[in-house]
Amino acid sequence: MPNRTLLIAGNWKMNNDVAEAAKLADELAQALPEVPAGVEVLVCPPTIDITTVHDRIQAAPIALGAQNVYWEAKGAFTGESSCDMLKSAGCTYCIIGHSERRDYFHESDEDQNKKAKALVAGGIVPVFCCGEPLEVREAGTYVEHVVAQVKAGLEGLELASADQLVVAYEPIWAIGTGMTATADDAQEVCHAVREALVELFGAEMADGIRVLYGGSAKPGNIAELVAKPDVDGALVGGASLKAADFSEMVVKAAE
Ligand code: 13P
Repeated sequence: MPNRTLLIAGNWKMNNDVAEAAKLADELAQALPEVPAGVEVLVCPPTIDITTVHDRIQAAPIALGAQNVYWEAKGAFTGESSCDMLKSAGCTYCIIGHSERRDYFHESDEDQNKKAKALVAGGIVPVFCCGEPLEVREAGTYVEHVVAQVKAGLEGLELASADQLVVAYEPIWAIGTGMTATADDAQEVCHAVREALVELFGAEMADGIRVLYGGSAKPGNIAELVAKPDVDGALVGGASLKAADFSEMVVKAAE
């Protein structure tokens, strides 16, 4: 198995005002003065909190990411942030294609493709999310569904190295529900994602790209998830909002 560095990434979603974000960032910096070998830690606060969190975690081994980006460089796009703006605020990662953006904000695969290309060209690592709704899981076509999202969203992306892309498999029925996919469920789809990455980028590149699991990941299940050969970490929602839980996940992932 290749030696992929595990990534434990927190998606704060639309939680924490500036003062709350500062407090959580301070707590995380204190809880994680260093991270175990073989693990990388990332937090993705709301856009309004990015600068504050950057200031607070600067000295800590914690990377900073955004939750959204627009693919144009600048101009009349009210409410959006460009890749260069995120970079200037200290971001090195950006989540794209989250099911909440696809569902509530009607973002398409084509949108994700433009975002992925803009991010890679601009030197930010996309954390590209994919995942099926419950009815697709029940119909048994979830692998095809997820593979189609990966191929459409990442088609034509040019990577110079495997660390320029992260993919996160997040079954929608497991997000915020407490219903975690089993580690075997996660492995099945993360493996299919990796096979799609082989088709897109070749075997050597695909071997180095991190594929995360997301959906009710927590201290109690992280070890089992990352023990699977194609699960290279987690994209964590609810449990990333508590410094104690999130830092415990980082430690447990490394064990
Ligand atoms: P939960 O960990 O709260 O289920 O959220 C997962 C998620 O959507 C992370 O992006």
